[in-house]
Amino acid sequence: MGSIQTELSLLQKAPLFPPDPIFGLTKQYLADGSPNKILLGGGTYRDEKGQPWVLPSVGLAEEAVRGSGHEHLPIAGLQSFRDRAAELILHGTQALKGGRIASCQSLSGTGALFLAGAALREIDPSPRDLLLTSPTWANHKRIFESLGFVVKDLPYYKNQRFDLDSYLGALDSSRPGSIVILHACAHNPTGCDPTREQWKRIAAVVEAKSLFPIFDSAYLGFKSGDVDADSWAIRYFVEDLGLEAGICVSFSKNMGLYGERIGLVAFVTRDSSLTQNVVTVLERVQRATVSTPPLYGAKLVSTILGTSEIKSQWEKDIITMSSRILAVRQKLHQRLLELQTPGDWSHIIAQEGMFSYLGLSPTQVAHIRDEYHIYMLGSSRIALTGLNDGNLEYVAQCVDKAVRQIE
Ligand code: LMR
Repeated sequence: MGSIQTELSLLQKAPLFPPDPIFGLTKQYLADGSPNKILLGGGTYRDEKGQPWVLPSVGLAEEAVRGSGHEHLPIAGLQSFRDRAAELILHGTQALKGGRIASCQSLSGTGALFLAGAALREIDPSPRDLLLTSPTWANHKRIFESLGFVVKDLPYYKNQRFDLDSYLGALDSSRPGSIVILHACAHNPTGCDPTREQWKRIAAVVEAKSLFPIFDSAYLGFKSGDVDADSWAIRYFVEDLGLEAGICVSFSKNMGLYGERIGLVAFVTRDSSLTQNVVTVLERVQRATVSTPPLYGAKLVSTILGTSEIKSQWEKDIITMSSRILAVRQKLHQRLLELQTPGDWSHIIAQEGMFSYLGLSPTQVAHIRDEYHIYMLGSSRIALTGLNDGNLEYVAQCVDKAVRQIE
C-alpha cells in the first residue's frame, strides 16, 4: 500500500528550492539571537531609530478612508487610483492628454512586472527575448522566465560604475523586437544610473532596434526626493520620442505601503484607438491571476494623490526619507576614509537611491554576517536605510576589519 502511495505521489517530485536571496536573508536575521545584529538586506525604509516609518501623509489618508467599505474593486482596479497614479508620472504629456495610457492596478512592482509580461505574451505569444541588466534585482529573471520569455543578461556594471559602452554594445546586438527592462531610477542593486545624455543614447538604440521598453519604476522619489526628476527617463522615451512603453510603478517604497501591495502597470500606446484593447488584455490576465486587486492601498494612494494638503505632506515625506539616505551614504563613506580602509570607496557617494553596492567579496560578506551579525546580500548590496547614528560606526568598523583580514 505504502509503495503504491509513493508511486502515485505527484508531490514527491517537488524540488526543494533554496531560500529567496532577499526574504531568506531577513529570515536568517530574525533567527539570529545576537544583540548586535543589523539587517541591511531588503529595500525597506527605516527611520533614524531603525524602526519602520508610517509616513505622516499615509496617516492622514488612513483617517480619510476609515469606514469606507470592503466591496470588490473592478478587475482593473480603482479608477481614481489608476488616473492619479498615471497623472503623477505622465502629467502634461501628449500620451495622457490623448488617451493613450492603458493602465491596471497591480500587486505592487512585482505584480506590475508580471502583468506587463503576461499581457505582452497574451498579445503576441511567439518566442521573444527579454533583456535584463547584469546585475539586476534578484526577482526579475524569475518573473519573466515564469512567463516563458528567453531572458538575456546585458553587461551593465564594471569597475564600480555603469558601463555604458558594454551595455550599448549588447543592446545593439540584441534581437529586434526584444523587450528591455529599464530601471527608471536608482538602479537596483548597483545604485548607478545613466546620465540624461546616456539615456538618450540608450533610447536611440531602443528605437533603432524596435525594442519594447518596460520601465521598472519602484524607487521614484528615492533618488532625488522629487518624483518628476526621477521619472525623467520615462517621459523622455514616451513624450520626446513618442515610443510605446510599459511603466511598472510601485508605491511600496515612496509611500511606505510595503504590505498593502499597491502598484500600477501602464502601457503607453501609439494610438488612442489601441488603448481600450490593451486594457482588456490587462483585465484578462489580472482576472486569471488575482481576480480583482486589493482595495485598501489603492484608496490610500488615491487619497494622497488626490488631496492637495496630503499630497504636499507626501512630498515632504519623500524628502525626509531621501535626505536621510543621502546623509548615511555620506557618513559611511566618510568613516571608511577616516579609518583608511584599504580601497577606493568613492563609488559609495557616486551611487544613488536606497542601496549601496559596496564591492566586497562573497567571503567578506559571509565573514561580516557570521562574525559581526551584519546581514547584507551576497553581492554586498546594502540597504542604506538600515543604517543610523546608533549602528553606522559599528558597521564601518566591521567592514574595515573584514577588508583588512579577508580576501
Ligand atoms: C529589494 O530589492 O530588496 C526590494 O525590492 C524588496 C523585494 O521585494 O525584493
